[in-house]
Amino acid sequence: MQMLKGKTVVLGVTGSIAAYKAANLARMCKKEGADVHVLMTKNAVNFINPITFESLIGNKCLADTFDRNFEYSVEHVALAKKADVVMIAPASANVIGKIACGIADDMLTTTVMACTCRKIIAPAMNHNMYHNTIVQENIRKLSQLSDEYTIAEPDRGMLANGDIGDGRMPEERVLFEYILRECAFEKTLKGKNVLVTAGATREPFDPVRFVTNYSTGKMGAAVARAAMLKGADVTLVAAHMEVEVPQFVKVRRVQTAEEMYQAVLTDFGTCDILVMAAAVADYRPKAVADEKIKKSGSGMTVEFERTRDILQELSTRKTRQFVCGFSMETENAVENSRKKLEKKRLDMIAANNLKTEGAGFGVDTNVLTLITARDVTELPKMSKLEAASALLNAAAESPLTSSVKVNG
Ligand code: CTP
Repeated sequence: MQMLKGKTVVLGVTGSIAAYKAANLARMCKKEGADVHVLMTKNAVNFINPITFESLIGNKCLADTFDRNFEYSVEHVALAKKADVVMIAPASANVIGKIACGIADDMLTTTVMACTCRKIIAPAMNHNMYHNTIVQENIRKLSQLSDEYTIAEPDRGMLANGDIGDGRMPEERVLFEYILRECAFEKTLKGKNVLVTAGATREPFDPVRFVTNYSTGKMGAAVARAAMLKGADVTLVAAHMEVEVPQFVKVRRVQTAEEMYQAVLTDFGTCDILVMAAAVADYRPKAVADEKIKKSGSGMTVEFERTRDILQELSTRKTRQFVCGFSMETENAVENSRKKLEKKRLDMIAANNLKTEGAGFGVDTNVLTLITARDVTELPKMSKLEAASALLNAAAESPLTSSVKVNG
């Protein structure tokens, strides 16, 4: 699946040392299927050669220095018309000032002015320039026009001159996610609150030891990311995860099954869809020692007790929420999962068999079977993000979800 297939991305590059990152960003967009067009200011050409972009995107790079004699007025309007998103990265203080004040005196600023799509601006400059009152005023002005402009907040870190400060352009993968949020997937979950759990809970028995499982949190992270890319407001209840949490989602960190229960409960009342992808411990050590347990004798016995089954507990509180569980089995996956569907009063359960090639812990693919009271849908092997998207489509199409009022 190419997430930007059929989309036109306009990338504006201005004069800043961070311009080198724009080349990778352009490549990432191209790789996801976008038709990428790069517009460079005169100063940008001092930092990176237009040929770099042209080689990566397969389109002519419009740089202000040598395109003056082109029919650029026509070209920029045509480009503005077909753009699905404009990203200016790096955006200098100068270009931000021009856009904020309605100045259009070069290829980039005239195109931005003619574009009706969202413009994402990634400031990149020296710490003091970034904190300059006028620059901040201009940034504020654009961020208040939130229907049209998004500011990709710069990071704090080492700047080009070696100083530590604000104004460093975010990494390419971060900026790329801004573009995907704008253009990837249909926004079928806009206005919905989606609650997702991910990762492995950890159940301690002394201050240095715990019992856990092999879950890496990849599937839950993919569900949270897909929901975000489909326009939902996403809260991720994250137990231990070996992957980064997706951008633009609210994160509640937890450790134990009990903490996860409390966190899920906090948001369950207002959520439209709950997807429990976390691998929650079914048992926990009965006692947790205050001090580290010292070794003694030849063996050790730890007594376990049942944890609360979160989905089971929620089944009595469920009102309008669409609730989806996960079920990992090693045999009779469909049959066993169907039992869980009924017992936990779920609307859907996503079953997988740990022994199936391409499914299981830590891999980037999954082979899911989506089970509801009426249907069993076997999905082929696909990336975890694609599987998450299919799962969310099924949730969104459910009469339960589509009858829920936006934010209602
Ligand atoms: N789950 C939960 N609370 C628990 C354990 C599991 O809410 N204490 C959720 C999981 O997040 C998952 C679903 O229940 O969405 C199924 O989990 P699984 O461990 O496969 O099934 P169990 O019901 O625990 O049954 P078993 O371990 O016997 O297979």
